[in-house]
Amino acid sequence: MRYEIGQLLRDAYPEYVSGGELSRRFNISRTAIWKYVEELRREGYCVEASSRKGYRMMPSEGRLNSWEITDNLGTQIVGRVAQYVDTIDSTNNYAKKLAAEGCVDGLTVVAGQQTAGRGRLGRSWKSQPDKGIYITVVLRPDMAPAETQIFTLAAAVAVVKAISAATGICPGIKWPNDLVTAGKKVCGILLEMSSEADRVNYIVLGIGINYSQETDEFPEELRSRAISLKMAADAIKSSTTFKQATPQRPFSRLSVIRSVLRELDTVYRLILAGGQEKILQMWREYSVTIGREVRFILRDTEYTGIAVEITGDGKLSVECSDGIRRDLYSGEVSVRGIYDYV
Ligand code: BTN
Repeated sequence: MRYEIGQLLRDAYPEYVSGGELSRRFNISRTAIWKYVEELRREGYCVEASSRKGYRMMPSEGRLNSWEITDNLGTQIVGRVAQYVDTIDSTNNYAKKLAAEGCVDGLTVVAGQQTAGRGRLGRSWKSQPDKGIYITVVLRPDMAPAETQIFTLAAAVAVVKAISAATGICPGIKWPNDLVTAGKKVCGILLEMSSEADRVNYIVLGIGINYSQETDEFPEELRSRAISLKMAADAIKSSTTFKQATPQRPFSRLSVIRSVLRELDTVYRLILAGGQEKILQMWREYSVTIGREVRFILRDTEYTGIAVEITGDGKLSVECSDGIRRDLYSGEVSVRGIYDYV
């Protein structure tokens, strides 16, 4: 109920809504309204009260709430239940804890900041307050662990579609699931899993999107390789060369988050319905890896070659310069023209 009251107050801003009006609308006493308003305040919302005019909810820049994330989202599984937390060590850690306690399929955690955000390959993920978007979704597919590589690719496909839909910026996918725009990383995805020998217990799918950082807000070693959505949007606006096929639109943290949850829901249901091949097709369409020169290290030896294909089970197939084709399952590849590989 407090969220419905919150929504009504938010819609009415900058006007006040009287206690009498709220009590009529929701068919509850003025005292009950006052109690719900107190709950909203405890959650961090700024609700002004005037004895003559009633209540008014002030816009809250940056801070989100679970209900803003889930309200009218229209998804079937992902984001049906969401928790917004201001500060957490890592949304993946927290989601794992909730998953181990038996949370629902599709439960979503969104954080304002992370104090120990984690990246792939044991790296850290700098997660300043409200500069990035930090989301983790718990998935509980009824499948064998060996079949789950598709989620790594599906997540990247979903976030490309989500960012395109919400912002008009169309990133490409660097294998397996970095999202890049203008040759720089705009999003990273960390997928972790708990499983038995033949069955997945849960997957936690962590997504970190660079939202509003400026270059000097990235760690020094990443400045030449990282970009935020706001930086990309500004670059598109002011550049004659950096153009995108889709028109840009105004976007907010919330609109991007909701778009991500919708697209994740779509790809998740597609996987559950056996649509793996379709996911692979979309991944190929958005790939900035296939057909390009790549460099990678395998058992202490560096190889270069041309990435030629993504296999049905999600491996990257590389035609190496020594004439041998190698299929990569995980790890890191450098793609010529992306990040610092020139
Ligand atoms: C990468 O190294 O590219 C993956 C980065 C993943 C970062 C996200 S932010 C939300 C979630 N929580 C974490 O601790 N990591 C992931």
